[in-house]
Amino acid sequence: MSRVPFVCGNWKLNKTIAEAVALANGVAAGAAQAPGVEVGVAPVSTALYPVAQALKSTSVLLGGQNCYHETSGAYTGEISPTFFKDVGCKFVIVGHSERRQLFGETDEGVNVKTRAVLDARLLPIVCVGETLAEREADRTMDVVGGQTRAALAGLTAAEIGSLVVAYEPVWAIGTGRTATTEQAQQVHADIRELLRDLAGDEADKVRIQYGGSVKPANAAALLGQPDIDGALVGGAALKTEDFVAIIKAAV
Ligand code: PGA
Repeated sequence: MSRVPFVCGNWKLNKTIAEAVALANGVAAGAAQAPGVEVGVAPVSTALYPVAQALKSTSVLLGGQNCYHETSGAYTGEISPTFFKDVGCKFVIVGHSERRQLFGETDEGVNVKTRAVLDARLLPIVCVGETLAEREADRTMDVVGGQTRAALAGLTAAEIGSLVVAYEPVWAIGTGRTATTEQAQQVHADIRELLRDLAGDEADKVRIQYGGSVKPANAAALLGQPDIDGALVGGAALKTEDFVAIIKAAV
């Protein structure tokens, strides 16, 4: 089954409003030259509104980097999927390894957030990935499989078929170390097998992005793998030229 590749920039805690709008304009121009590729950007929340304006008549999707699971109320400092939707977002990243490692996010928490994003009729990008110690102990699929099952617990097959999974080996994020194409494809194929177990044929619809030091030099090889359906890009998404080159590698 052919899946539309989805290339997403996770800007993390980078780019002021002016910088974010400039980058968004550059990304939109690049995306317009890459037919058949879905492109998304996830700016800092304070830049969402101006970036939404900049992207208004373009095909680039806007997203949040994290969310809170409750819809509204006395939750100082939090942003819910409903509010991301209000500002024009189409997707929300959940369970990024930085959230798990730096902010104590648990598998259960990721599950609740995934549910909340779906309930708001937005697209969750569910991140999973093993640490270097876990890979070296041959526990990659234990960990990645466990995270995936936990994140998707209670979802219907159709809901699973509608979402995006991002496989991001923790040791490859921001380190310049990328999984080899074979390592990445193997884990992606194993994740798809697991999804088939959970959701039957819906598994063939799930886009599984690879993330972790994706750059112009390695993008084409990674994106050429049968079970790699896109990329979640951090560092290289902060430079228009690099990110556009990655988008074009997905064509
Ligand atoms: P990186 O980050 O591309 O800088 O490794 C990827 C991510 O954290 O999503």
